[in-house]
Amino acid sequence: MIKMSPRKLTRVFTILAVVLFCQSVHSQLQIGFYRDTCSLVEFIVKEEVTKAFIKENGVVAGLMRMHFHDCFVRGCDGSVLLDSTPSSTAEKDSFANNPSLRGYEVIDNAKARLEAVCKGVVSCADIVAFAARDSIEITGGLGYDVPAGRRDGRTSLASEIIGNLPPPTFNVSQLTQMFAKKGFTQEEMVTLSGGHTIGRSHCTSFSNRLYNFSGTGMQDPSLDPRYAAMLKQQCPQGNKDTNLVVPMNPSSPSITDAGYYVDILANRGLFTSDHTLLTNPATANQVTQNARNPMQWRAKFGAAMVKMGQLEVLTGTAGEIRANCRVING
Ligand code: HEM
Ligand SMILES: *[C@@H]1O[C@H](CO)[C@@H](O)[C@H](O)[C@H]1NC(C)=O
Ligand SMILES: *[C@@H]1O[C@H](CO)[C@@H](O)[C@H](O)[C@H]1NC(C)=O
Repeated sequence: MIKMSPRKLTRVFTILAVVLFCQSVHSQLQIGFYRDTCSLVEFIVKEEVTKAFIKENGVVAGLMRMHFHDCFVRGCDGSVLLDSTPSSTAEKDSFANNPSLRGYEVIDNAKARLEAVCKGVVSCADIVAFAARDSIEITGGLGYDVPAGRRDGRTSLASEIIGNLPPPTFNVSQLTQMFAKKGFTQEEMVTLSGGHTIGRSHCTSFSNRLYNFSGTGMQDPSLDPRYAAMLKQQCPQGNKDTNLVVPMNPSSPSITDAGYYVDILANRGLFTSDHTLLTNPATANQVTQNARNPMQWRAKFGAAMVKMGQLEVLTGTAGEIRANCRVING
C-alpha cells in the first residue's frame, strides 16, 4: 500500500485539479452538447443537408468550404453567415465568398426548423459545423463526432479576409505560414487541402494559370498540358461570364476521396496553392502518402476538421445564439 503524507496528498490533488482545469479550457466544446436541450439537432441538420444534396449535389461542397471560411476568419462563430449592413460590408460579400460561397439557404432552413422545436438554443456556428461533417459523410468521407457549444459572434468584416483566408495563388511557404498562425502543422495543412476533392471552381479563380501566368502572357508550365487544354475549352480567354465553373478533381468531383492528391501528382492540381504542395520535399511526400493510402487520409481529414472546428470559438456566455443566422440579435 502506498503511503502519502497529507501535504503530499494535497499537492497531488492540486496538480490533478490543474490538469483537469487545463483540459476543460482546451476542449471547451462537447460532443452531445445539445443532448438535453435540443436532442434532435443533428438529425434535423442532417435531414436538411440531405434534402439539399438531392436537389443539387454540389451544395455540400459549399457547406464544407463554409465551415473553413467561418473558422479561419474570427474563429468558428458564424460570422460568414451575417449579411452586410448599410454601414459595414460583411465577410460573405468579400471577393473570397461572393459569388463563390454557396449553401447559405441550407443553414437558414435548418435554423428555421430548430427555432420551431427548441427556440434560442442552437447556434448558427454549430449548425455550420454539423452540416460540414454531414457533407463529408454524404459524399463518402469518414464521419466524425462534432464537439458543439459554439456561440455566435456579432461582427463580420470583409476587411478581415486578407491575412486570414489563403488566396489560390499562395505558394507552399505562404500556406504553411498562414495555417501555422491558426495552430496547424504543415502536414495538417496538406491534409485539409484535400477538401478540394469535391466541388467546383469559377474560371476566374485560376484563369491566370491558363493565359497569363505571373504576368508572362503564357500558360503555367507546371500545369499538365492536356489538362490545361481542357480547362481552356471550359474557360475561354476573355469570356465575360463570371459564372463559368469547372469541377475540382474531375474524375470524382462529388466523392470525398483521395483523388485530389492523385491529381496533384499528375500536375493536375487546379490552383497554384494545390500544385505548390509538390515543390517542397515534406509536403510532396505527404501528397504521395495520401494518394497511396486513402483510408489514412480520410481519418486524418476528419481529425483535422474537428481541430479546425475549435478555432477561437466563443463559449459559455460569450456572444449569443442568433435567432436568424443572417443578422445579429437586436
Ligand atoms: C489551402 C488553402 C486553400 C485555398 C487557397 C483555397 C482556395 C479555394 C478556391 C479559390 C476555391 C474556388 C472558389 C470558386 O472560384 O468557386 C475553393 C473551393 C473549395 N474549397 Fe478551398 N481553398 C483552400 C483550402 C480549403 C480547405 C481547408 C477546405 C475544406 C476543408 C476547402 C474546401 C473547398 C471546397 C469544398 C471548395 C469547392 C466549393 C464549391 O464547390 O462550392 N478549401 N477553394
Ligand atoms: C513564396 O512567395 C513569397 C512571396 O511572394 C516569396 O517571398 C517566397 O520566396 C516564395 N517561396 C517559395 C518557396 O517559392
Ligand atoms: C498579364 O499580366 C500583366 C501583369 O499583371 C499585365 O500587365 C498584362 O496586361 C496581362 N496581360 C493580359 C493579356 O491580360
